[in-house]
Amino acid sequence: ALGTTARKRLSGRHIIVTAGPTHEPIDPVRYIANRSSGKQGFAIAGALATLGARVTLVTGPVDLATPANVERYDVETAREMSETVFAALPADAAVMVAAVADWRAADIAVQKLKKNDADPAPLRLERNIDILATLARDPRRPRLLVGFAAETEQVVDHAIAKRLRKGADWIVANDVSGDVMGGDANRVHLISDAGVESWESLPKSEVAQRLADRIADEL
Ligand code: CTP
Ligand code: CA
Repeated sequence: ALGTTARKRLSGRHIIVTAGPTHEPIDPVRYIANRSSGKQGFAIAGALATLGARVTLVTGPVDLATPANVERYDVETAREMSETVFAALPADAAVMVAAVADWRAADIAVQKLKKNDADPAPLRLERNIDILATLARDPRRPRLLVGFAAETEQVVDHAIAKRLRKGADWIVANDVSGDVMGGDANRVHLISDAGVESWESLPKSEVAQRLADRIADEL
C-alpha cells in the first residue's frame, strides 16, 4: 500500500537528540569542557533514524561521522545547543544525551589571557541554561522527554531524584565511574514512572537500539 518501502515504526515522527560535550570559551584559545565522546548520542540518533524517525541531532564538538539519514547541527556552547534545540521544535520526542557544561565563564576575554605577576586570575563561573528542565516546562514540550544521568555514585537514587527535579519522563542513568566516557560499553538503568529497569552491560550500539525500540513502543 505504501509502495516498495514498508512503513517503519517511527515513520512520521520527529525526534531531537542532543549529544557530545559543550565547549564554553574562556578566551579565544581556551575553553571548559568534559570527557563526553558523543558516541552514545550518535548511536541513539542512528538507531531512531533506522526505525524511520526524522532525527535532528544537535551535537557539541565531537570526532564522529554523522549516522545515515540524520540531520546534524554542530554547536559549541550550551547556549547555542539550547537555541538550536528550541528552533527545531515541534518534536514528538527529545532525547538529551549531551553532557552540557553546567557552568560557563562569566567573562570571556576578547584577547588571549597572558601570564603576569598577579596570575592566576580567578575564573568566575555562572550557570548555563538547563536545556532539559527548560524544555520540560515549555508549552511545546515533546510528548516524550528522555534525559540521561551520568553519575559516579548512588547512580539510581540520584537519577530518580533527577527525573522528578527536571520533569523528564524517562531518565537513562549510567555509571561513569569507570571508563564509560569514550568507551564502547554502557551499563544503564531506565527510570520511568513505572520504576527502575536495570539493563546488563551492553555495547553503546545495543543500548541505542533498545532505547529506540522502547521509544517506538511509547510513540
Ligand atoms: N542537561 C541539559 N542542560 C544542562 C545540563 C544537563 O539539558 N545545562 C541534560 C543532560 O543532557 C541530561 C540531563 O540533563 O539529559 C542530566 O544531566 P546531568 O548533568 O546528569 O544533570 P544535572 O541536572 O546537570 O545535575 P549534576 O550535573 O549536578 O549531576
Ligand atoms: Ca550536569
